[in-house]
Amino acid sequence: MSETNNVLRLPAERLYAAEIEALKAEDRDPRPAGWQLSPRAVLTYITGGRAGGVDITPKYIGHRRLVEIAIATLLTDRALLLIGEPGTAKSWLSENLTAAIHGDSSKVIQGTAGTSEEQIRYSWNYAMLLANGPSDAALIKSPIYRAMESGGIARFEEISRCASEVQDALISILSEKTISIPELAREVPAERGFSIIATANTRDRGVNDMSAALKRRFNILVLPSPADLETEVEIVRKRVGEIAANYELKAALPEEEAVRKVVTIFRELRSGVTLDSKEKVKGPSGVLSTAEAISLLTNGMALAASFGSGSIEPEDLAAGLQGAIVKDEDKDSGVWKEYLENVMKKRGSEWRSLYSACREMNG
Ligand SMILES: Nc1ncnc2c1ncn2[C@@H]1O[C@H](COP(=O)(O)OP(=O)(O)O)[C@@H](O)[C@H]1O
Ligand SMILES: [Mg+2]
Repeated sequence: MSETNNVLRLPAERLYAAEIEALKAEDRDPRPAGWQLSPRAVLTYITGGRAGGVDITPKYIGHRRLVEIAIATLLTDRALLLIGEPGTAKSWLSENLTAAIHGDSSKVIQGTAGTSEEQIRYSWNYAMLLANGPSDAALIKSPIYRAMESGGIARFEEISRCASEVQDALISILSEKTISIPELAREVPAERGFSIIATANTRDRGVNDMSAALKRRFNILVLPSPADLETEVEIVRKRVGEIAANYELKAALPEEEAVRKVVTIFRELRSGVTLDSKEKVKGPSGVLSTAEAISLLTNGMALAASFGSGSIEPEDLAAGLQGAIVKDEDKDSGVWKEYLENVMKKRGSEWRSLYSACREMNG
């Protein structure tokens, strides 16, 4: 325990180590080569349930079928690509699938415009390379290389942000299932169990549209925004509770009422219409994702714990809403004001204190 006390963010396999152990102990189904759990146990880990007296908390809340397809994909020679709007749990699902299947979610490549082919394959310690020529000791393996060697899963975050030449380096890896190192006259074959889970934001598409050849190597799964208000409220409440516990925030968890209000506002601004479909609303420039709602409320708890009453007040929510919604001062401030006047103000007494606080904050 003390070993983990000062770590800011634990990887899923450590955070949920007890759950994974319980599932392992109970698991009677056959485990695919290289897997530490059967596909069915992985499904329980992700969607929740019980194993040997231990509660397995749901990690991904949404369509169970989607999770089944994701797991089944990793049993084939196809890699898995999760796409969706920002904040739809692409990274979270990818981390947890990897944690459950291999107990190691740390082999990650973060895709950026600057990601190079070497970061996908291997590179060299140049001092050693110059001194002694190419050797095993001078070889620096990429996370994908290490996953191939150990039959593990490598994660590739935001793959569509990489230049297309770099993305294409993956084609040979995914089709041949080997990395060749001409300098050492060697081919490194992938162990059974090797796969890749990549994520991409639909908002980024078109920046570097992925080639058809690469897309064919992936099973593409779209993660939707939460289908309804209740589901989204549930996701937000659950995650805020977990994150607050992790950061040891000394404030009361937000009332269900507060969560419901934030999620209602987000859903209405996101969809451009009030929940009762009666009134059109204008949307702001930024993305109001579930993840934004979660961080708004955890920030609210941090504020309340440090400088407030210890529980989230309308002022704390108003500050968070202002920050999340008004990203571009000129445009969004007007959009938010319109929403406050045309929608929130008319909702009556339950919304009055939040309305006033937001009104004041938005100047
Ligand atoms: N359907 C969902 N089930 C569980 N958690 C979710 C869901 N949607 C969003 N979240 C939460 O939102 C947060 C951010 O998700 P993240 O994986 O970073 O989003 P993305 O990678 O899609 O941008 C995570 O804490 C995650 O738990
Ligand atoms: Mg992500």
